[in-house]
Amino acid sequence: MTRSKTLAPLRILGLVRSREAGDALRSALGDVGELSLSHGHRAGERITLPAGKLPQLVIVELDVDSAEDMAGLERLAADLNGQAAVAVTCPRPSVDALRRLMRLGIVDVLPQPIAAADLQAICRAVVRRSGSQPGGGRLAAKVAAFLKAGGGVGATTLATQMACAAAAEATEVCLIDLDIQFGSAALQLDLPQQSSVLDLLASTEPMDGSMLRLAAARHACGVDLLPAPTPLAPLESIEAAAVLRLLEAAGAEYGLLIVDLPQAWTGWTRTVLAASDAIILVIELSLPSVHHARRQILTLAEEGLDHIPLIVIANRVAKGLFAQASPISRAEAEQALGRPIAAVIPGDESLLRAALTGKPVGQVAGGKALARRFAALAGTVLRGSPVEAKP
Ligand SMILES: Nc1ncnc2c1ncn2[C@@H]1O[C@H](COP(=O)(O)OP(=O)(O)O)[C@@H](O)[C@H]1O
Ligand SMILES: [Mg+2]
Repeated sequence: MTRSKTLAPLRILGLVRSREAGDALRSALGDVGELSLSHGHRAGERITLPAGKLPQLVIVELDVDSAEDMAGLERLAADLNGQAAVAVTCPRPSVDALRRLMRLGIVDVLPQPIAAADLQAICRAVVRRSGSQPGGGRLAAKVAAFLKAGGGVGATTLATQMACAAAAEATEVCLIDLDIQFGSAALQLDLPQQSSVLDLLASTEPMDGSMLRLAAARHACGVDLLPAPTPLAPLESIEAAAVLRLLEAAGAEYGLLIVDLPQAWTGWTRTVLAASDAIILVIELSLPSVHHARRQILTLAEEGLDHIPLIVIANRVAKGLFAQASPISRAEAEQALGRPIAAVIPGDESLLRAALTGKPVGQVAGGKALARRFAALAGTVLRGSPVEAKP
């Protein structure tokens, strides 16, 4: 793990109300920053910074539902005038509170109880932003888009597992669930859908990295998820231009974007695919699925997207004694598709259990080998290393 190597020591000021919060900040931070603490600001009181060198990050403990606290925070943000990043620590805030925090320019929320992974992610983002060129806006991240040849082939399962594998290698990963009608990434990662990707796409405010981090639900493995909305949303309620803005903002903030797309081809599918470094097409070894995949591959060519590396993965393939059970063989599928299948993922109990319990497969019994295959897949997108081909 090289996670801490990317962190320059950051000067952090914690404005906390309780000794517990101060202690939690200190132990979560470890040695990745220099923390000074100031205790005991009260509601409605002007929050002042202790004399001395200005910190790069101020973390304020407050009650986001208190108008007085929010007014104090607003004054603090105005006083700092962008000279230091401001984050807030509180128990999980409501969507309304998140929106108010976004408007104040707060870079992130550190949920209580404070977790080391959350605090360190905020630090990394602050370090990266302070070192980044203003007005860059380039899609610095690698982007992998998931297409599926049929419903239920396992695209979301593979997307979430690949996201966890990449996060385990210290890549900052944002999983964007654009399957806005049947998206199940939040369910699979066991994360709340308090704010959805649609809220961001509908927002008329300029989108930036801190807004994304505020809206994202963070999984313990380090993945930030922008979930699909809970109520069914029409596919055409999204505009391609908004999707592009979202990808640009996320691309400047994270190292890897993984996008789960709807099964239907939408007005904005092409926008996502055109911005991708790799398209991962998940199939099953069945006639309908291979037929569906053929049509997708033809559409990619018609849309002028055939220059983007396409990685075909056959999922839920019967293994061992049941290897003959697949309706068509790998070779037959490859012939029909006119291209190789890069990897075969077996139908596997441990993967199913992981997908149903919100865990990276490496954390469930018998899942280590599969976790390595997802890491290899992430490596292909990030570094162009080969995808494991052996079943
Ligand atoms: N390789 C696999 N082995 C066993 N179960 C799997 C595998 N891949 C996916 N599943 C299960 O199949 C179901 C559908 O997967 P999902 O990822 O939601 O499909 P999709 O996103 O393509 O519609 C889920 O319950 C998931 O746990
Ligand atoms: Mg899905």
